[in-house]
Amino acid sequence: MSNQPEKAEKNIVLVTGGAGYGGSILVRLLIQNDYRVVCLDNLRYGGRSLIEVWDNQAFEFRKTDITDYEAVDQILEKYDYLAVIHLAAIVGDPACKLEPQLAVRTNRDASVHMLEKAVQLEIPRFIFASTCSNYGKMVDSAGMVDETAPLAPISLYAALKVEFESQLLHRDGKVDRFCPTALRFATVFGLSPRMRFDLTVNEFTKELALGRELIVFGEQFWRPYCHVSDYARAILTVLNARQDQVAYAVFNVGDTSQNYTKKMIVEELLRQIPDGKVRFVHKEEDPRDYRVNFQKIKHSLGFNISKTVPEGIQGILTCIRAGLIENPDDQRYYNTPITR
Ligand SMILES: NC(=O)c1ccc[n+]([C@@H]2O[C@H](COP(=O)([O-])OP(=O)(O)OC[C@H]3O[C@@H](n4cnc5c(N)ncnc54)[C@H](O)[C@@H]3O)[C@@H](O)[C@H]2O)c1
Repeated sequence: MSNQPEKAEKNIVLVTGGAGYGGSILVRLLIQNDYRVVCLDNLRYGGRSLIEVWDNQAFEFRKTDITDYEAVDQILEKYDYLAVIHLAAIVGDPACKLEPQLAVRTNRDASVHMLEKAVQLEIPRFIFASTCSNYGKMVDSAGMVDETAPLAPISLYAALKVEFESQLLHRDGKVDRFCPTALRFATVFGLSPRMRFDLTVNEFTKELALGRELIVFGEQFWRPYCHVSDYARAILTVLNARQDQVAYAVFNVGDTSQNYTKKMIVEELLRQIPDGKVRFVHKEEDPRDYRVNFQKIKHSLGFNISKTVPEGIQGILTCIRAGLIENPDDQRYYNTPITR
């Protein structure tokens, strides 16, 4: 590999974790919007999600682990990238709890390495997939949190996101022309080429679609939700925004109308599956309880969601009922070992 980056058109982006649930939708959206995509992923959950884009001239894939710094450096040095969009991570509280050392190495150490190399190479933009889990448990459960609210992570997953956000946005001396942005996503739902059935809306819909009794813990706790296509659209919006609108900025990603308690999600489900069986197991303790305000991304970047929770439920339900997903219990749809 030559030491000189290919000085190609200024539209090449590196997507880490591009084979994942959100990443596989994003990769397609970027290509449709005339970006060239280099996708870096270790295929922890397989690579079927990329088959459809495999032959596309605007797509290049590197099977690489982000903890392999030498390989990462080579990929970063190869092109004159416009942006790094950093999604690769051990994703979710259970997965990080199960493999904490791997989570620290991946979500913190390798992410910091990626950031430092990007700054050194003067890659203009760095977009980081963070999470609304950073807010932890709201002090006032009747209120709402916005981007200025104190962060109170209560899981290793969120603590590592908070730590990296801080490295990204509060670097010693802001680098001129460097444009880092942290996106705090609501919990994602909806259909993707790398489906996940370990996310609340997807999991609840799957259980009822398969005719099982759905057991719900902590039905009174709030969380915001965002469709996976809106997850990708938000990243594209930030990539296309003027630097002064997004540099050193944090945006919650979702819509204020899409805050739900688990009980409200069940109510939506029962509208579409009237004979669904649900059992609530009341639990006073839930580590996470937050309602989030999403006005900032709406007002400053003009971002609006395209799909609501009921629409996402309908998509998953019809897809399972039509038999498109042969075995929704397959391990590949989960980030931790399933016990069923
Ligand atoms: N899904 C959500 O509800 C949600 C909410 C908020 C934020 N996010 C963030 O969005 C990003 C993507 O999440 P997702 O739901 O698509 O998860 P995912 O688990 O489907 O995707 C993660 C991808 O990263 C890859 N990966 C993991 N470790 C790697 C490593 N060491 N080297 C290279 N690749 C590696 C995996 O193979 C996978 O393709 C994550 O950063 C996540 O924290 C997701």
